Amino acid sequence: MQNNSEDLLKKIIAHAKEYGYIFQSSEIYDGLSAVYDYGQNGVELKNNIRNYWWQSMVQYHENIVGLDAAILMHPTVWKASGHVDAFNDPLIDNKDSKKRYRADVLIEDYIQKIEKKIDKEITKAQKRFGDAFDEKQFRQTHPRVVENLKKISEINKRFNQSLESGDLADVKKLIETLNIVCPVSGTCNWTDVRQFNLMFSTQMGSLSSDAQTIYMRPETAQGIFVNYLNVQKTARMKLPFGIAQTGKAFRNEIVARQFIFRMKEFEQMEMQFFVKPGQEMEWYDYWKNERMRWHLSLGLPSEKYRWHNHEKLAHYANAATDIEFLFPFGFKELEGIHSRTDFDLNAHIKHSGKKLHYFDPETKESFVPYVVETSIGLDRMFMAILCHAYKEEQLKDGSTRTVLSIPAPLAPYKVAVLPLLKKDGLSEKGREVFNSLKKHFMCQYEEKDAIGRRYRRNDAVGTPYCVTIDHQTLEDETVTLRDRDTMAQERISIQELIAKLREVLSFSS
Ligand code: GAP
Repeated sequence: MQNNSEDLLKKIIAHAKEYGYIFQSSEIYDGLSAVYDYGQNGVELKNNIRNYWWQSMVQYHENIVGLDAAILMHPTVWKASGHVDAFNDPLIDNKDSKKRYRADVLIEDYIQKIEKKIDKEITKAQKRFGDAFDEKQFRQTHPRVVENLKKISEINKRFNQSLESGDLADVKKLIETLNIVCPVSGTCNWTDVRQFNLMFSTQMGSLSSDAQTIYMRPETAQGIFVNYLNVQKTARMKLPFGIAQTGKAFRNEIVARQFIFRMKEFEQMEMQFFVKPGQEMEWYDYWKNERMRWHLSLGLPSEKYRWHNHEKLAHYANAATDIEFLFPFGFKELEGIHSRTDFDLNAHIKHSGKKLHYFDPETKESFVPYVVETSIGLDRMFMAILCHAYKEEQLKDGSTRTVLSIPAPLAPYKVAVLPLLKKDGLSEKGREVFNSLKKHFMCQYEEKDAIGRRYRRNDAVGTPYCVTIDHQTLEDETVTLRDRDTMAQERISIQELIAKLREVLSFSS
């Protein structure tokens, strides 16, 4: 990560704490690594993102229903899903600094440095050739870019082959060959690479003799798979149909970093879409489009998004892609869309001995459906919004302000009601307006401090609208409505306020 993006991330983390968005878990005990708590504003933003996702997936699709499965599941679920045997990270330690790293992340970071070099060449050429610049041709012909792209492809190929064949010694050799050094010690003095299972386990049962090892779910998806027939039958769903679920997942991420990007306890919003075998690619394309549309409907710019198609597919997938977002530390995975075939259902059929076939009433056939999954981390989406929203602005009068331009419908508080003064009956009028608005929107009432300071505080919290009560309000029942992003103020009658706010606080999709 470059210095200024590191600084930016530090500022965002400090801002998130100062304004009640995110606190380090158990802070008074020096915190718990990669575990975070959401404060009074954080919990509202998180709820709003989750609700908007749920609305888009469940409410707007008549063939998708919801589910809330338990976090704890029968241990055989995780044997069947492959998590007991294969949900591993390849870890490596630096002998000098004693720091532990994920071998894949070390290699990923190395590749990212090469990609940055390529991007630099492209930006330079773009400036030189202007409108005549053809990026595709440039990538195919510029000698240094071609060489670097070849290098990336060779590294990826060798790394994937070594991991797939379990040749961890070669993963270490690759790290040494590329001369990847520990960022702390600066040396290449590495231990062997070994696999580490990411699931948290605990014991169920009161007597040690009959205790059973169970796992905290590492993904919510399996709760959907094991319930799919219960839902299909009780909701009388016909293929294609989906089941959506949001909830906590747990992964013992040893190398957790980058704030809430990679956590040990996090929340997923997942949807499994069950389709007829052979139709999965059609639905895979549908969900790719639909999910990108959802992201763009938030008003985040398309330049901050890109696709990353998986070259190396997981054992259960026949196609997979990530929606990546431009975080301060570069483009990183935000959401995954996977065509999971019939792998999971077949695995549960095999391990449970139960028939999980779908009976098609039209063709009178029984078969195991294929599944297309959309899976997004709620915390990661939160972080994408926070990083995009955080802005330090230089104003025309020479002053600066920090503003969180959170998409207005997702903002924790939608409106702050601010009487200009506490006296002359303005407080009473302010309370009256606040009491009528709070039934419709999350509102805050504030009368302390000068009005300019209150505006700044609300900008920093991300409240999209301030309603100011002044002396004119008492005369003609109008208030000023101030827009957080433009800082423009308009005079509007109290009577029109709710309708106006409804209009500006909804997504148009
Ligand atoms: N059911 C498929 C699945 O779990 P995944 O790619 O491992 O796929 C899906 O995870 C999404 O969950 C990711 O795109 C990311 O947004 C989020 N996620 C995964 N691990 C995470 C972690 N340790 N902390 C925060 N979010 C995480």
